Amino acid sequence: MKEKLWAGRFSLETDKLVDEFNASISFDKRLYKHDIRGSIAHATVLKEAGILTEREAKKIISGLKEVEKEIDAGKLAFTTGMEDIHMAVEGRLTEKIGALGGKLHTGRSRNDQVALDIRLYLKDEIYGIIALLHDLKAAVVEVAEKNFDCIMPGYTHLQRAQPVLLAHHLLAYYEMFKRDTARLFDSLERTDSMPLGAGALAGSPYDLNRGLTAKLLGFKDVTENSLDSVADRDFIIEFLSAASIIMMHLSRLSEELILWSSQEFGFVELSDAFSTGSSIMPQKKNPDVAELSRGKTGRVYGNLFALLTTMKALPLAYNKDMQEDKEPLFDTIDTLKITLKVYGPMLKTMRVKKENMLKATSAGFLNATDVADYLTKRGLPFREAHHAAGQAVAYCINRGITFDDLDLSEWKGFSKLFGPDIKDAIAIEKSINTRKIYGGTAFATVKKRLQAVMAEVKKGCC
Ligand code: ARG
Repeated sequence: MKEKLWAGRFSLETDKLVDEFNASISFDKRLYKHDIRGSIAHATVLKEAGILTEREAKKIISGLKEVEKEIDAGKLAFTTGMEDIHMAVEGRLTEKIGALGGKLHTGRSRNDQVALDIRLYLKDEIYGIIALLHDLKAAVVEVAEKNFDCIMPGYTHLQRAQPVLLAHHLLAYYEMFKRDTARLFDSLERTDSMPLGAGALAGSPYDLNRGLTAKLLGFKDVTENSLDSVADRDFIIEFLSAASIIMMHLSRLSEELILWSSQEFGFVELSDAFSTGSSIMPQKKNPDVAELSRGKTGRVYGNLFALLTTMKALPLAYNKDMQEDKEPLFDTIDTLKITLKVYGPMLKTMRVKKENMLKATSAGFLNATDVADYLTKRGLPFREAHHAAGQAVAYCINRGITFDDLDLSEWKGFSKLFGPDIKDAIAIEKSINTRKIYGGTAFATVKKRLQAVMAEVKKGCC
C-alpha cells in the first residue's frame, strides 16, 4: 500500500481494521466538487501571498480541474486507503503533477478544509431545498385555488369543531412552509462564513488573505475565531433542526391525507400514480407516499439527535468524533429532497371529494358556536349563551335530530332571544362568512390571502 500523507512519524503500518474504521471516503466522496473548489481558491490565495509562483498555482489549479473531471467521469476509484476525500484529491493531484502537489496544503489543515467543504456543500443544498419548498408551496396554493368553494369540517381534538374552507386549511400549511423557508434562509446566514485560514486550530502562520478566499468562494464573511472555525458544527445542527421541522409539517399533512383518504372520512382520493396496492388484498389502495413521509420524519429527527449527541461535551477544537457529522447530514438532505419532490405532485393529482366534505359539516353541530354567538349578539353574556346552545345540542342528540329540524318554539324553549332569523344565522356558509376577521376563514378573507400568496409564489423562491 502507498504511504499515507501523514506517515512521517509512524514506524508501523496502520492496522487494516483501523483503516476501515477511520475512513470516511465511502461517504465524504460526495464533497469532491466542493473540496476541489476550495483547493482552487486556496491555491490562488497562496499565489497572492507569494507562497506559490504564478506557474505553480496554474499547474496545481489545472491539475485539480483534471482530477475533478476524472471523478466526474467515474475514473478515479476511491479506496479505503485514501482515508477521506481531502487525501484522495490531494493524493491524485500529486500523482499527476508530482511533488508540487504537496505544496497545496501549505497553511491549511484538513480541519479547516473539511469545515469549508461542508459549508460550501450545505449552502448549495440549502438553496436547492428552498427551491423544492417553493414548488411545494406552489402546489398547495394550486390545490387551494382549484377547490376554493370547498367547505369542510375544521377539527380540534380530531372532533368536528367549526366549518372552514378547505383552501383555508391548506393555506395553513402554506404558512408553515413559508416559515420553513425563512428558517432555511436564516440558517444560511451562519453557514455562509468562510473558515479557511484557521489551520488545525490556532490560525495559519502564513499571511493568507482570508477575505480573498471568501470572495473567490462566494462567502459573505469570514469566521472570527480559529478554534471556533474548526470546532463549530452549529450550522449543520441548525439545518438539521430546520429539516426536522419541515418533516414535522409534512408528517402532519400526511397524517391528514391518510385519514382523509380512508373510507371513514372519504374526503380525498389520491391518484393511482401516487398510491400503492397490496400484495394480498386486491381491493387495497394505500397512501404509501404520505405514510412514508410521516415515517421518514422519525429518521430525520434521529439524524438531528445523532449530531447533537455527537457534539455534546466535545472539547475544543477539532475531534475525530466530528467526522460523524456527515452521514446524518447527507441522509437528511437525501430524505428531505425526495420527500419534497414527490409531495407536490401527489397533492396536485389528488381528487377532492367536495360533496363528502360538505356533508360532514352538516352532522356534528359545527354551528353550535354560531348559536351561542347569535344569543351573545342579542345581549346575553357569552357563558349563558354557550349554556343555552349546549342545551339545544343535547336536546337534538337525545331526539336524533339536527338544528335544522327545530322549530321556533323549540328554539325559544332554550332562550327567549331566539327569533325566526336563527336558521339563516347559523347556516354553514354564514358561519364561515362571519369569520371575516383578518386571518379567519370567511370566503372574502381567504380569497384575499390566496391572492397574496399566489403573488408571493409567482415572485419565485429566492
Ligand atoms: N475526514 C475528516 C472529517 O470528516 C477530515 C478532518 C480530519 N482531520 C484530522 N485531523 N484527522 O472530519
